[in-house]
Amino acid sequence: MVQGRTETAPQAKRLIDVAFPLREVSAESAREKSIRHGHISTLHIWWARRPLAACRAVICAALWPDPADENCPQSFRDKASEVLTWFAERTQRDKTLAEGCAEDTFARWTVIAKPEGRLDAGNPDHWNVLRFLLLDFIADFANWDNSTRSEYLTASRELTQAAHEALGGIPGTKPLVVDPFAGGGAIPLEALRVGADAFASDLNPVAVLLNRVALEYVPKHGSQLAEAVRTWGRWVKEQAEKDLSEFYPRDADGAIPIAYIWARTISCEGPGCGAEVPLIKSLWLGRKPHNSWALRVIGNRETRRVEFEIVRGAEPKEVGIGTVRRGSATCPCCGFTTPVKKVRNQLASRQGGANDARLVCVVTTRHGEKGRFYRRPTEQDLQTVARAQQVLEQRRKSHEGAIALTPDEPTPLGGGSGAGRAFSQRNYGMERFENLFTARQLLCLATLAEKVRSAGDQLRASGETELADAVQAVLALNVDKLADYGSSLTSWSSPASQETVRGTFSRQALSITWDFAEAYPFADSSGGWLHNLEYLIGPLENEARSLQVRGSATNASATEHPLPDDAVDALITDPPYYDAIPYADLSDFFVVWLKRSLCKSALGASFTSLAPKAEECVVDEVKGHDHAFFEACMRRALEEGRRITRPGGIGIVVFAHKSTAGWEAQLQALIDAGWVLTGSWPIDTEREGRMRANASAALASSVHLVCRPREDPNGNVRADAIGDWRDVLAELPRRIHEWMPRLAREGIVGADAIFACLGPALEIFSRYSRVEKPSGEQVNLCEYLEHVWAAVAREALSMIFSGADATGFEADARLTAMWLWTASTNGNSIEVAEDEAEDDEDEEAPGKSGKVAGHLLEYDAARKIAQGLGANLAQLPTVVEVKGEKARLLPAMERARHLFGRDGTAGTDGRRQKEPQLNLFGTKEEQKEAGVAVPVADERITFAVGNTVLDRVHQSMLLFASGRGEAMRRFLIEEGAGNDQRFWRLAQALSALYPPQSDEKRWVDGVLARKKGLGF
Ligand SMILES: C[S@@+](CC[C@H](N)C(=O)[O-])C[C@H]1O[C@@H](n2cnc3c(N)ncnc32)[C@H](O)[C@@H]1O
Ligand SMILES: [Zn+2]
Repeated sequence: MVQGRTETAPQAKRLIDVAFPLREVSAESAREKSIRHGHISTLHIWWARRPLAACRAVICAALWPDPADENCPQSFRDKASEVLTWFAERTQRDKTLAEGCAEDTFARWTVIAKPEGRLDAGNPDHWNVLRFLLLDFIADFANWDNSTRSEYLTASRELTQAAHEALGGIPGTKPLVVDPFAGGGAIPLEALRVGADAFASDLNPVAVLLNRVALEYVPKHGSQLAEAVRTWGRWVKEQAEKDLSEFYPRDADGAIPIAYIWARTISCEGPGCGAEVPLIKSLWLGRKPHNSWALRVIGNRETRRVEFEIVRGAEPKEVGIGTVRRGSATCPCCGFTTPVKKVRNQLASRQGGANDARLVCVVTTRHGEKGRFYRRPTEQDLQTVARAQQVLEQRRKSHEGAIALTPDEPTPLGGGSGAGRAFSQRNYGMERFENLFTARQLLCLATLAEKVRSAGDQLRASGETELADAVQAVLALNVDKLADYGSSLTSWSSPASQETVRGTFSRQALSITWDFAEAYPFADSSGGWLHNLEYLIGPLENEARSLQVRGSATNASATEHPLPDDAVDALITDPPYYDAIPYADLSDFFVVWLKRSLCKSALGASFTSLAPKAEECVVDEVKGHDHAFFEACMRRALEEGRRITRPGGIGIVVFAHKSTAGWEAQLQALIDAGWVLTGSWPIDTEREGRMRANASAALASSVHLVCRPREDPNGNVRADAIGDWRDVLAELPRRIHEWMPRLAREGIVGADAIFACLGPALEIFSRYSRVEKPSGEQVNLCEYLEHVWAAVAREALSMIFSGADATGFEADARLTAMWLWTASTNGNSIEVAEDEAEDDEDEEAPGKSGKVAGHLLEYDAARKIAQGLGANLAQLPTVVEVKGEKARLLPAMERARHLFGRDGTAGTDGRRQKEPQLNLFGTKEEQKEAGVAVPVADERITFAVGNTVLDRVHQSMLLFASGRGEAMRRFLIEEGAGNDQRFWRLAQALSALYPPQSDEKRWVDGVLARKKGLGF
């Protein structure tokens, strides 16, 4: 029996079981990514952090019951209407509060704030209103600007408290939210914010430290922590600067060097050459339009020496290419290209060659002048570097203690097909962490670590033991930040808005950069101690205002959770995903410095060795961790999660689903672990409600799965619940039919709707411990999911064709419609900008593929969609192109050859034709005028009317596109294509499905516009 509470059956549904403000929360989550100051992510790097907006909204919707549910305790409805009325009244009096509300939400607050609009929690007609007001509140609260506003905090906390007590929690206690894969701590932090208790754990000591700072130190010390960090941070700077300033001299004219740009070198292997070749990827230094800077490389054939000039006001066409491309280096003296393998060997024999790199350029700032200045290195620059090397050697010799002065720990092995792909530094001989830094960088970081220890010691000596730990921890995080900006894997970022050092972890990897930027550690820009410290203090100050109750952070594997059975009200977690991120290996970059900054403090004990890897849930071939290992780990963790969750509690598990197979395995694990799925919400945390150019991207957001323990009230897993396959299959279409139109009304369409339907569909299946066919054979999840896809596709089609029977269309039309629908969002029309990602410097990086027309889907997803529609991709080669793992819906333009026959294919593939076209289908001028070169039938040419309705619609679209109104008229009237009602119905549907600003949309609308005129 569960202690201390009553498990009231049946349980009320939570808001998240019935509805969720998906669009608003997705938009806020995406927006949050651009927030730099005061956001917890600026405390320290953690990879794949969840946006706080999504966490906050999900937690509220998971903890609060749905007032419209018949099982909702009346006490919650009463309290909710009281709290919302109070909130509504506040919005009427407080201008900033009002401005932070969405417009229509504010209008609703205005109504209920008035006496005649009062909510009446006793009146069942008001329960639905109450539900939607709570959802509106959640949507607005997701806005970053509202996250620390006292009215939102108060209201949310009162609602959380009321919900907890109404659902059987002991009065005065708070619901416990637990995240066993806490990472950067977004989920537990938000749990505290909205008035729950939070328990965070992670296998990784860096993650635990981050959680400890946010969940324990901030609430405990409040604003005192930020103040102390500022004071001691300055002290560290002053002390370190005393020791280090001789290594960073100012220029004679007072200019301050803020970064040093280095190039690793090799010796040219060209016949008889041997010149020192500096490896440089790009010669740009600064790309401000009116103040650009670049390097010029001059190879002297005689002296075999490469020199650099610095060009101010460089024009793009004058700026040459770097010396290194895809890992091979071209000699500026003799032109010989030393191949990648040799480059690698040379660098490997010098541990990466950071320490004997060539100083190429020094970046400075000048007092009273804007911008950056670039100059050639001087003798003094080189001497100070040499001096730093000597001093580091002396200090290494005189260093005592168990931990070496500089990190001699091994870097990750890397390699293999799994997460180890992220590490290629060993190919260049960087086998120990210290190899990733130059001597001056090591000297600087070791000095800072020592001063941080000393700050902690002094605070402790003054009796402030607890504050000392907290301050030392935060200062240690700042040493990490300097290490991120102060390694030889950084780079100089030349785009106009930047001209700064780009940190080591601008990529989630350790891989070589040929030329790198060494930040001046006391600069007033990224890489500068106080500059970074302010970013760190931002969230401390910000959260101190909103967090009062302490949470707890613990080091534990999710597969062996420290909490007892049935202790948890809500298990909310975002587990790792297959081989996406090698957290432990990445984090070692920081562990080695934390170990040095924290030794002797209470926290030092967590950093005696590298981060644990044996139990880490990640696919990594080099560690012998395959997919089966990952799935077993995940299953075990989910079982543990269920064990610690009370029978009436709730679970939310975030899953990415880049491949349908991986996704199915995760769902299976959840079911096997004893969870019943009840809902699913795909929150797109990447884009602000934009049109997706590519359907794959739409399917690649992460889904929040809502689930409940499949347990009896006494806490035992129900193992005897056998479901009848026929019942399950009968209920499925009903459930989808109930959900899809409702989602559509709330603007949730396409892939979002598919994924939002999965949870409810899976509930029918997962409420049983097994589902059996009449023969007694067990139905596996894969088989069921095929049915789910089919049911979803059928429902979607009936919505697309407004209830008309879609079976009247051939398979190509159904597939096209369903495909476009999958890619659609709610009518926003901005095309996704192609990522401006820099290509990887490592030669092993795969090449970038160009942009392709048409909508891409993962092959397996496309296959499922087709199957669900009774179509077979293999039989539709003129509609869908399959290449490897991807399937592409061909745009009408690319189908022209198929539609008009061989002769009519002038320039139809969108590429520029080398040869002039035959003039059969209109002159080139006419084609140009129409903006498109497609086949058009003039009077002399006839072509066959397409076989299917889709073919005919596409034919008419292409005729329209080429400006051939007369040919189109003949096609529709005389050839009779327009007499088929299905033609117009499909055209109508496609008009609604093509992306708003696409050519295809324009063309199909053009065809539709002729309908009346032609008498149809
Ligand atoms: C996706 S991240 C969590 C990110 C987090 N939600 C955030 O917003 O920062 C997954 C986390 O799982 C942790 N992890 C991996 N294996 C684990 C295990 N066996 N037990 C506990 N944590 C583990 C990783 O260290 C990583 O921090
Ligand atoms: Zn050469």
